[in-house]
Amino acid sequence: MPGYFKSSFLIRIYLPTCFVLLALLQTIHAQNYDEAKAGTFTLPELLVTQDGRKVTTIEQWEQIRRPEILKLFEDNVYGQVPKDFDNISFEITNEDKKAMDGKATLKQVAITVFRNQKSVTINLIIFIPNRVKHPVPVFLVLNHRGIKTMDITRQNKDDFWPSEEVIEAGYAIAGFDVKDIAPDDKEKFSEGVLGRLYPEQRAMDNGMRALGAWSWGASRCIDYFETNRAIDAWKVITVGHSRGGKASLWCGAQDQRVAITISNESGNSGAALSRRNYGETVALIVKNFPYWFCRNYRKYAGNEDKLPIDQHELLALIAPRAVYVAAAGSDLWADPKGQYLALQESQPVYRLYGFKTGLPKEMPVVDKQVIRPCMGFHIREGKHDMTLLDWQQFIRFADSYFKRKQR
Ligand code: GCU
Repeated sequence: MPGYFKSSFLIRIYLPTCFVLLALLQTIHAQNYDEAKAGTFTLPELLVTQDGRKVTTIEQWEQIRRPEILKLFEDNVYGQVPKDFDNISFEITNEDKKAMDGKATLKQVAITVFRNQKSVTINLIIFIPNRVKHPVPVFLVLNHRGIKTMDITRQNKDDFWPSEEVIEAGYAIAGFDVKDIAPDDKEKFSEGVLGRLYPEQRAMDNGMRALGAWSWGASRCIDYFETNRAIDAWKVITVGHSRGGKASLWCGAQDQRVAITISNESGNSGAALSRRNYGETVALIVKNFPYWFCRNYRKYAGNEDKLPIDQHELLALIAPRAVYVAAAGSDLWADPKGQYLALQESQPVYRLYGFKTGLPKEMPVVDKQVIRPCMGFHIREGKHDMTLLDWQQFIRFADSYFKRKQR
């Protein structure tokens, strides 16, 4: 190899490759999977107001502390979620009353939201069971895995959205592709709602970003459910996996029309405690997915102790409605124990409402579900995914929750 070639090989290929590999190694090793190194931490007080008063009544929680926590999440993590728009329309673009061999009615609904002469359309897909003659509860999936997982022809069945099983259990199942609202992409995320309806949010340090936009979209689907008499709009169950789980929690925390909020393996900035040093960290998530969160969140990279909230408070915002957290044994990146601890730490607010939650102190063993009034948890064996087994637990939890409420 001639000398000039050797040196140009060194400069142009060998050295840059080494740097990239080193950077990669650094990222891989930046997270901790050793329980002994998860650290000790003090969580922000759930039931003490910012000016130091103890919260002992539902009234104090609802009028002072709950709004405070909600605002802290808006300003520091997910950004504001704008409430105003000029108009919303619902157009049934397709209907099949004999879908799934006559077991269900399929509806495709174009939900169009207008603001300042611009609009965005969410394409909602719903199957409603035909055999049930009264309005049914509905599972609404904030789906980031794409439309292919919700095949309306049912030729391709995907356990991520197991509509046959859900229909069989007497529930409606709905879903939308989060891309309709905000593309899940660092460069293009503002091509939907953010660019068209709420451009002013982009300039704000506490402005809405992708996770907020997806949760905003779920609320617009609930607006539609309120107009469909086959659906019981008091029994909406939001479901999201991973990034979708983070958005499901943020939606359930704000929109009090959600009856059950389900987070499947939502991990960091979802159900897992941020102060626990295990798996994904705030530093890693804001580096890899800056467009999911408001700009202010970046201040807490490597600085989690300074966060004015932690994720147990997000779960507490859902009270007195129900919350369900699911984890997977091999999904250490999402910190199963950190997710269970957050659920545990949210209990004081549920107790304020009189629920005897009494979650076991230790995280349940793999494949054992824990159901308490208003909260539930399971950890499934296996990797990061949303499977039929997860769905079977969601259905069991919803059955028990709605039955209990009827009594
Ligand atoms: C990445 C990200 C997680 C996220 C996950 C997902 O792994 O780091 O925070 O939950 O993607 O959405 O699948």
